[in-house]
Amino acid sequence: MSIPIKTPAEIESMRKGGRLLREFLKKLGEKVAVGITPVDIEHFAKQLFEKENVTPGFKGYNGYPAICCISVNDRVVHSIPDEIPFKQGDLVTIDCGLILDGLNTDAAISVVIGGKTANPLAEKLSTITRKALYSAIKLIKPGVRTGDLSAIIQHTVEQAGFSIIRELTGHGVGRTLHEEPTIYNYGKRGNGPALKPGMTIAIEPITCTGERFIKTLNDHWTIVTRDGSLSCQWEHTVLVTANGHEILTPDT
Ligand code: MF3
Ligand code: CO
Repeated sequence: MSIPIKTPAEIESMRKGGRLLREFLKKLGEKVAVGITPVDIEHFAKQLFEKENVTPGFKGYNGYPAICCISVNDRVVHSIPDEIPFKQGDLVTIDCGLILDGLNTDAAISVVIGGKTANPLAEKLSTITRKALYSAIKLIKPGVRTGDLSAIIQHTVEQAGFSIIRELTGHGVGRTLHEEPTIYNYGKRGNGPALKPGMTIAIEPITCTGERFIKTLNDHWTIVTRDGSLSCQWEHTVLVTANGHEILTPDT
């Protein structure tokens, strides 16, 4: 029951993997358009992983059948790519993981097709969710508690009138996709373990515009909001450094 501290060599692998993952996500995000389907994005992802000769992090994890989770509108997370074409105004989250030299990185982006004019509420939810992610990342340095990150994420999201999906959390990441510590997206400052240099964590606020309650569909993977409200996620893998942090999945 301890939080793994990565060696310099492990960190270098995660740095390389994280940059690649972010590059992939940028390319996948640019493909999202009216008439394209999640399966099209999944096929493109397969090509990118094959071209760079790296391993997808999600496929086969607990039996998950795809490289990406592509969660549209009221789909919260873990949506298996299907063949429903994207429409104008859709809020599309692409979550993806990558393994390089046995080390995992994990990141997610969201795209609103047509932007603010097509769906102002979706754009606002995405902006606030991303803001919550970065507000937590900015705090990261040794000694900070995971609860400090939880509290600022919750505050940022709820102050804007949106909800946190409480069942879904951030997590340590690296030697496995999910390791200690759990990083709740709600909670109190001062709670939880203190961060130390060499820890690598995935921060992932998961939000919705309505009530925070969810249900799982019959595929046993796809999670949706109970009230059908829009849901969003942004995620980075972050390293705790000697005096601050480094985003291992940086925007290029
Ligand atoms: N980013 C997600 C998470 O941390 C992805 C896991 S999807 C799974 O939970 F399919 F791999 F389980
Ligand atoms: Co994650």
